Amino acid sequence: MSRKVIIAGNWKMNKTAAEGRALVEALKPLVADVCPGVADIVVCPPFTTIAAVVEAARGSNIKVGAQNIHWAESGAFTGEISASMLTELGIEYVIIGHSERRQYFGETDATVNARIKAAVKAGLKPIVCVGELLEDRENGNTEKVIGTQLEGGLAGLTGEDMANVVIAYEPVWAIGTGKTATPEVAELTHNFIRCTLKDMFGAEVGEGVRIQYGGSMKAENAAELVAQPNIDGGLIGGAALKAESFSALIHNAIAR
Ligand code: PGA
Repeated sequence: MSRKVIIAGNWKMNKTAAEGRALVEALKPLVADVCPGVADIVVCPPFTTIAAVVEAARGSNIKVGAQNIHWAESGAFTGEISASMLTELGIEYVIIGHSERRQYFGETDATVNARIKAAVKAGLKPIVCVGELLEDRENGNTEKVIGTQLEGGLAGLTGEDMANVVIAYEPVWAIGTGKTATPEVAELTHNFIRCTLKDMFGAEVGEGVRIQYGGSMKAENAAELVAQPNIDGGLIGGAALKAESFSALIHNAIAR
């Protein structure tokens, strides 16, 4: 089965509305040649920048996502944003369980699970992040940690739900550090993730789920990473903040 490449930019807490609009305006002509059937291109701005970016991306092949959602539809959750607030703006994807949320904001597999269910129910496509800390890798616990994140995070989802789920494997030691997992090391973990998905949801569903790599992916290493059999794209932080570097990365990734 061939899975369509998906390259998503995670802008994190960067870009005001005006800056985000300018970035998308600069990106549009650079990626206009990328056929929608070949790759999904997604940008995930901060909440306050989303509306401007949706407007700027309209009519182009750039899709828009958010970086988090709350699991409730509405209510007394000060500072939170619900799925319907985002679908109303016209977004398609949402990053859930990024390691920065797990590390700094108390995200657990249970809250990841609740957010994924809310996203799927609202028709959003969750990009579910998993990944091990450096000490997990050094202690030989990578598969145990990721297996637990997958089983907890995806508990109760159906095979049908999984058709809209993307997994992002992001080794925490590779995020923002300039240290990328080698394609061989990343592929081993991607293969483990795929096997776990097959165990959980059956071979056909597991085979179809797209698994992105994230962690210091850039134009220079995108091709060799995405050339691996189980690496279907990337979740990109730093290199997504400039139109030229993001476009170069996308083009190298689809030239695999
Ligand atoms: P990075 O971030 O590309 O800057 O390492 C990736 C991410 O955190 O999603």
